Amino acid sequence: MSEKVSGYSRLQVSLHWAVVILVAFQFLAHNAIEATWNAHLDGTLPSQGSGLLTYLHIASGVLILALALCRLYLRYRRGVPQPPGDEPRILKILSESVHGLIYAMLLSLPVSGVMGWFFDFRLAVVVHEYLQAVLLGLITAHITGAIFQHLIRRSDVMMRMFAPEKT
Ligand code: HEM
Ligand code: HEM
Repeated sequence: MSEKVSGYSRLQVSLHWAVVILVAFQFLAHNAIEATWNAHLDGTLPSQGSGLLTYLHIASGVLILALALCRLYLRYRRGVPQPPGDEPRILKILSESVHGLIYAMLLSLPVSGVMGWFFDFRLAVVVHEYLQAVLLGLITAHITGAIFQHLIRRSDVMMRMFAPEKT
């Protein structure tokens, strides 16, 4: 379906950074959802003031799922730029694997969260806790890779996500 493109579109770049902001929020403001969930498990009341942040965790998580699906659709319909011609095979495999696994986390984290929260499937929340740690590791590798491309390999790969293709 996709054609050969030399860069990401404005929409693809915007969606990438919108998801970065939402994911950062999920990690920086997770205390409220944890407190509410623990109170639910203990049969006590959550502390006052955690309600809004709890609902924002859920809303932001569901939005991440929707945006990740849009990105995958755009990937399929429009395509994404190829790695630089001189990219070693191992780096291609690494970056493609990390991107694929990040997408897998962006889909499975909201699904496990919804299963735990709305259907009281407690094992799903345990899985959710493991998956968020995996996502954090993948993001660290991803950012290291982007900086490595820019500073060491001196390729245009990092700038692709800052300067969309002019179409
Ligand atoms: C990509 C989207 C999401 C990310 C990145 C994410 C991330 C996180 C993080 C970092 C924590 C704290 C875990 C810990 O420190 O133990 C957490 C906890 C939690 N999340 Fe999410 N979350 C997402 C979506 C959702 C959704 C959509 C729901 C519910 C509908 C949800 C429900 C929960 C619950 C119930 C907890 C408490 C788990 C506990 O404290 O044991 N999450 N999430
Ligand atoms: C929450 C943090 C982040 C997540 C979840 C994330 C996720 C992703 C995903 C899934 C892709 C693949 C896009 C596709 O081809 O369909 C991607 C590409 C990319 N990201 Fe991120 N990203 C994050 C943070 C960052 C940061 C901080 C930077 C810059 C330092 C960055 C730079 C890039 C670049 C340059 C690409 C394109 C790589 C290429 O064309 O081979 N990302 N990101």
